[in-house]
Amino acid sequence: MRDVSIVGVGIGHWGELWNDSLRDLAVAASLKAIADAGVDRVDSAVIGCMSSGIFTGQEHLASVLGDYLGRGPLPVTRVESACASGALAFKAGYAEVAAGISDVVLVCGAEKMNDLDGSESTYALGTAADQEYEGYNGATFPGLYAMMALRHMHEFGTTRRQLSLVAVKNHANGLQNPNAQFQMAITPEDVEKSAKVADPLRLLDCSPVTDGAAALILVPTELAKKLAPGGAPVAVRGIGHATDTIALHSRASLTRLRAVEVSAERAYQSAGVKPADIHLAEVHDCFTIAELMAMEALGFAAPGQSGPMVERGETAIGGRIPINPSGGLKSKGHPVGATGVAQILEIVEQLRGQAGGRQVKGAKLGLAQNMGGTGGSSIVTILGA
Ligand code: COA
Repeated sequence: MRDVSIVGVGIGHWGELWNDSLRDLAVAASLKAIADAGVDRVDSAVIGCMSSGIFTGQEHLASVLGDYLGRGPLPVTRVESACASGALAFKAGYAEVAAGISDVVLVCGAEKMNDLDGSESTYALGTAADQEYEGYNGATFPGLYAMMALRHMHEFGTTRRQLSLVAVKNHANGLQNPNAQFQMAITPEDVEKSAKVADPLRLLDCSPVTDGAAALILVPTELAKKLAPGGAPVAVRGIGHATDTIALHSRASLTRLRAVEVSAERAYQSAGVKPADIHLAEVHDCFTIAELMAMEALGFAAPGQSGPMVERGETAIGGRIPINPSGGLKSKGHPVGATGVAQILEIVEQLRGQAGGRQVKGAKLGLAQNMGGTGGSSIVTILGA
């Protein structure tokens, strides 16, 4: 296996992008990453996308990306693992470079969600749940995560205020991210007064519906030394990947994310590090409760201790372990197939020292956690400066 480094990053502003199609977004992010890497060729590409067929009517993204990049016979692979499609694309690209199959690999994540109205996008997202037992019976993702939140509150005394503080922190961080969809400061009262979506979750507990893309360039570390990218190469230190039951009711516990726990153990083991060594993390806060549960599954907090940790400010920039300095899914947005790539991109910018007003000082080791559905699949990636 060869050591692998990330040498190029590409992302644009995320939001409701009425003037850009899915292919425009994917191509723009990819061209930026290629330019940032300073490479004169791409040998292969992987694109992560959850549901372009339902959201936009366009499948066959392998051909779309190769064609509209103007790189005709380029081998392109499309992968899907619901909201973890982006990190899965990264894992596939990493494996291709590590195995010596290709030297310069483009990894792109993209999703265009706003072409549908609210109920249609809720249906499209719901296809990542267990359709026979959850979807057909009317469960939606806000509803499923609301059940997890209620159970967490019941078992551990997690409070409404602690959920609010996750959203407040992530919006404060997003104010420093020029690419974030919602750049606005909010208070806990704003969260608690916002429209109820699925009790106890309110509008400001939820990630939004977003159009966006992100891209990275991966090369063998030996080759990275010969390039002049837009920032220092960042090493891939470890990746862990796992799945769990697709339906929530099949799990032993509603308050544990087993796939995140196992994928984290695998990533820590392959990187030879432990949770206390990590300087910052991007985690999958599709709802505020998801950030708290991810912190516990990643070993940053003991079960039930994530809420108090957020209350003490330990996850803010400048705290013990800054979480979601990018603004997270909550503020930056959540174009589902792009999210996992953008989380890794944020860690790269942080380790390069290029994160501007949201820079975590002295960051040398970062972690990104991306999951599908209610945690039916999870990928954890550890990167080092
Ligand atoms: N955070 C902050 N503001 C939001 C928001 C969010 N998540 N979602 C919408 N808004 C804002 C809009 O900008 C709009 O503001 P405006 O009136 O000033 O223009 C307003 O709230 C209403 O927007 P609208 O698009 O009509 O909201 P909606 O009721 O259709 O959708 C949710 C709101 C929460 C239901 C939707 O964002 C959602 O489904 N989120 C979860 C996505 C999801 O499940 N992802 C997968 C996770 S596994």
